[in-house]
Amino acid sequence: MANERSTFSAKAEETKRRVIPDRVLWARFDQYLRPYRKNLIIGCLAVVGGALTGLVAPYLHAVAINAIISPIAATGDTSRLSAFMWWVPLFVVVTAANYLFQYIQTYHMRVLSEYTVQQLRDDCVAKLQEISLKYFSEGEIGRIMSRPTTDSQQVRIFLRMGLTAMITDGASMLGGLVIIFFLNFRLALLATAMLPVAALVLWGLGGVSRRQYRISLTHLAGLIAKMQENCAGMKVTKAFVKEEAMAKGFDAVNDKTVAAWKRTILISTAYLPIVQIMRLLGTVLILWYGSMLYIHGEISLGVLAAFLEYQFSYFMPLVTLLTAFDQYQSGIAALERIFDLLDTEVEVRDPAPDQAIPIHTIETVRFENVSFGYDPEVPVIHGVSFTLEGSKKLGLVGPTGAGKSTTINLLERFYNPLSGTILINGHDVRNIRIADCRAHMSTVLQDSFLFPMSVRENIRFGKPGASDEEVIEAAKTVGAHEFIMRLPGGYDYLIQEESSNISIGQRQLISFARTLLANPKLLILDEATSSIDPYTELVLQRALKKLLANRMAIIIAHRLSTIRLCDEILVIDHGRIVEKGTHDELMRLNGLYSSFYRMQFKEESGIEIPGPATDPRQALQGGLRPAPLQP
Ligand SMILES: Nc1ncnc2c1ncn2[C@@H]1O[C@H](COP(=O)(O)OP(=O)(O)O)[C@@H](O)[C@H]1O
Ligand SMILES: [Mg+2]
Repeated sequence: MANERSTFSAKAEETKRRVIPDRVLWARFDQYLRPYRKNLIIGCLAVVGGALTGLVAPYLHAVAINAIISPIAATGDTSRLSAFMWWVPLFVVVTAANYLFQYIQTYHMRVLSEYTVQQLRDDCVAKLQEISLKYFSEGEIGRIMSRPTTDSQQVRIFLRMGLTAMITDGASMLGGLVIIFFLNFRLALLATAMLPVAALVLWGLGGVSRRQYRISLTHLAGLIAKMQENCAGMKVTKAFVKEEAMAKGFDAVNDKTVAAWKRTILISTAYLPIVQIMRLLGTVLILWYGSMLYIHGEISLGVLAAFLEYQFSYFMPLVTLLTAFDQYQSGIAALERIFDLLDTEVEVRDPAPDQAIPIHTIETVRFENVSFGYDPEVPVIHGVSFTLEGSKKLGLVGPTGAGKSTTINLLERFYNPLSGTILINGHDVRNIRIADCRAHMSTVLQDSFLFPMSVRENIRFGKPGASDEEVIEAAKTVGAHEFIMRLPGGYDYLIQEESSNISIGQRQLISFARTLLANPKLLILDEATSSIDPYTELVLQRALKKLLANRMAIIIAHRLSTIRLCDEILVIDHGRIVEKGTHDELMRLNGLYSSFYRMQFKEESGIEIPGPATDPRQALQGGLRPAPLQP
């Protein structure tokens, strides 16, 4: 499943037709290049300088043969050897200049590519922090991650190699051609006869190779997804003794990937031999026709030698230019995707700074007719209204998928309601800075996330700058101190990635301590005690009382024993509030809540409380008639 999805997206990514013209993308990329324009200009000049000095060397060889060696061979007059007195320094200077140009070019192009791409990556990451969670639930993490990583890398590769190659090899090719046509037009025509043929063959092969390369990439993405799936699900795999089946599934994907890469390599390694064969044919033509011209005295031996050398300068760049062209295509496509991310509308945004209403605490929370759907076409909660004030506790109860967490997500401003208003202290939350809202509320989820840091740092995360004493005090209050002291190293115990070296109950206790230290006015518990053992739950229940003192709270809990404490309980079903009241009121109502309660009580104690509907699922399947709301 995950495999199919990521394969699909990788393919969609690679084969998606680009819609924005190159010109527009470059114009926009220019703002990234602008601060390094000096590097770009110096770099390009150095590239041209390098290409030109590279072209002069063969010419100097021709001069040496024609003006020095041939006359000596013909006349035996060794006094001409003195000409090397100027030839050698000239050759050394030209070659040294060539190396110097290469150095300057490498340096400046590197500066250019590293800094511009760093800026691009920074912008992507900043944008990812800013955009709402919606983007994360719609897109896959892999695809999101690829913008600042793989895509930036592709832009970098083009800037560092592709661009340089295009200028160097373009200049070298052009220069070489100009020089040989200047040396002898007819021989040059013949010498370049194979060039268009080679270019055409390479172009065709390039198309096939690009397609094959994409297929390989797609398979590779599938392979990586499969690998992740295998590692993440290792426990389940082992528990169901399905290692062999998993390994087989992996092998199948792996075989496909290897086969695809083999084809890719087969094609791309054919480039060079093909160019070399064409060049060889060219050499034969030059030698055959060139020696005839030489015999007839139309060209010198030096010119013939120069032709053979220049052949390299216009044939070999064919391969590099083709690669550079591919790099250009990948780079520009990556740029398009990066800009697409940067252009993503920030859905939940702060009000304008001068219009933001400052809040210093949370006194009231009010939902007025709030409706919302992750997909606007599929509403998840409908017309939810409630008011919460002072240190009141609100309980949310309902079957899985009813919309309880969604309600909280809206309050935490991860999404905007589609209709209706959420008010804090009487102000529409849209007029309050997001950070201000969140500063006064804390959420404890069913499986709290701990960072791979020490226990101490994890608790301190709730209040950066808190002293060690404060950290320990918080842990003591929630009843976490005892078990922490039993850990090797105590508060310095290092939590591992994904909290794998600590139990869920312990994780919850640490997260309670972290929350207590943060001391929020509004505490939100979303199934915080659901996935733990009865003993730890007892500890947590006690911690909860301390945690809840003098605070406004919204509690979502499976165990109705936790909910009983609430001043008001909302029963939510299919995104609507169907019952509302205190525990006693709801029990008297004899609706969904009371049937829930009876069932849980029976399960836990074995004692049946008499009442009309004992199985809430029956009530649900029969289609709930919204029970009359208590005033
Ligand atoms: N990030 C999301 N993207 C799309 N749909 C979601 C998302 N989160 C929850 N849903 C859907 O919204 C509905 C309500 O979910 P939720 O509020 O998490 O229920 P619960 O009452 O169990 O907390 C469910 O149908 C769920 O599938
Ligand atoms: Mg939930």
